[in-house]
Amino acid sequence: MADYVGSVDQGTTSTRFMIFDHSGSEVARHQLEHEQILPRAGWVEHDPVEIWERTASVIQSALNKAGLQATDLAALGITNQRETTVVWNRHTGRPYYNAIVWQDTRTDRDMSAMERAGHGEVIRRKTGLPPATYFAGGKIKWILENVPGVREAAEKGDALFGTTDSWLVWQLTGGFRGGRHVTDVTNASRTMLMDLETLQWDDELLEIFGIPKQMLPEICPSSSPDAYGITTETGPFGAAIPIAGVLGDQQAATVGQVCFAPGEAKNTYGTGNFMLLNTGNDIVRSKSGLLTTVAYKFGDEAPVYALEGSIAVTGSAVQWLRDQLGIISGASQSEALAAQVPDNGGVYFVPAFSGLFAPYWRSDARGAIVGLSRFNTNAHLARATLESICYQTRDVTEAMTADSGVALDVLKVDGGVTANSLAMQIQADVLGVPVSRPVVAETTALGATYAAGLAVGFWKDTDELRQNWKEDKRWEPQWTQEQRETGYKQWKKAVQRTLDWVD
Ligand code: G3P
Repeated sequence: MADYVGSVDQGTTSTRFMIFDHSGSEVARHQLEHEQILPRAGWVEHDPVEIWERTASVIQSALNKAGLQATDLAALGITNQRETTVVWNRHTGRPYYNAIVWQDTRTDRDMSAMERAGHGEVIRRKTGLPPATYFAGGKIKWILENVPGVREAAEKGDALFGTTDSWLVWQLTGGFRGGRHVTDVTNASRTMLMDLETLQWDDELLEIFGIPKQMLPEICPSSSPDAYGITTETGPFGAAIPIAGVLGDQQAATVGQVCFAPGEAKNTYGTGNFMLLNTGNDIVRSKSGLLTTVAYKFGDEAPVYALEGSIAVTGSAVQWLRDQLGIISGASQSEALAAQVPDNGGVYFVPAFSGLFAPYWRSDARGAIVGLSRFNTNAHLARATLESICYQTRDVTEAMTADSGVALDVLKVDGGVTANSLAMQIQADVLGVPVSRPVVAETTALGATYAAGLAVGFWKDTDELRQNWKEDKRWEPQWTQEQRETGYKQWKKAVQRTLDWVD
């Protein structure tokens, strides 16, 4: 058998291809950014063709860097930004519209109308999600209603919907020459259209959203040797490699962090933050503002579910300091700037730029910086920004504890912001539990790689994967309990300001 497995990680800001060996160590990677198209306030789009071209080039560059042939890969995994919606023509491969990104809030009024019409209850019960702009269903509805010709094409079976996993699998397996139109259970669980129990598209929900079933992909397990087909010899691999693992990026990170037992959780720090708690084969309904979602389904095994706390703005708040305020020149500088002061100087920053996600789900909330006095400097603002990432995480962990009755004893972290040691120290301080980062911080690509490798027997079972997980660094809490609770009380007051802002 070939010695490696590779994965495409199609994220919100970039696409990368990574190659791993049997020990789960990185062998090579290549990454390219794509354009963030912002046509008006609240709208965020990507060009699906650009994403496909970037995908092809990162695959080739990573293989070249490693000096490997595609045939050195035993299987291929795909992981992706979830919810981002592409609709394209099956005969030409041309998208009808740009991809509408998960952060896009154009369906705000539509989602409020769904609640008013009384559909919220059935959406929550069947899908584990509240009606919100975040999820794919409303985005598909928007394209069907606003892009001329798409509804007719969808009814005829010519227009296909997919999140970016489906789009890339379709391209890699032949595109308009017969590519497979498929998705996995984790991505499907983010559409508001899949029943969590049956793991199938739900007719009642399709009716509510007015979505023709024939435009939807077939829902497959996250790990399967044959459901996704093989890559074509004319594509970027130039060889037939089985696509054997597909998962949404946060679920992939859960697998990459080997959270295979109920009660195990991970927190990924990217543009936003996403904490997932494995709840085993049970569908746990949140009473505290968390989502219920599919964590993964390996082959014929029963699905594993998770509670998820999604936070829209964390790493992107640091980017805002760089791009909009210009007080730092790069994300890594936020650490040095924040370290110039011993504390936040009374300043709290709630970056509710896309409203607030978990546990509040208030799309009308707007950001606020409170507690300012003349004494404050850029350094306090940088520190308040890092704290905002950590306090939002505390909001989510409080909700997880309330729902599951299990208190966290250590937080497993990954993602870009975990390179910021001060932020991770603050995280341990704010939570009062240790924070632990693994050696392989690219847990998203690793998780998709594991799903693919398990399907083809490259790895025997999840116990073998557990052996690969090694801690790189651990941060222990240093604040007193009093400091922790006073800070959190102030944070909650600041959040309240952002909720009160809009009448
Ligand atoms: O739900 C959105 C999430 O999947 C996006 O993740 O890492 O691409 O920002 P990321």
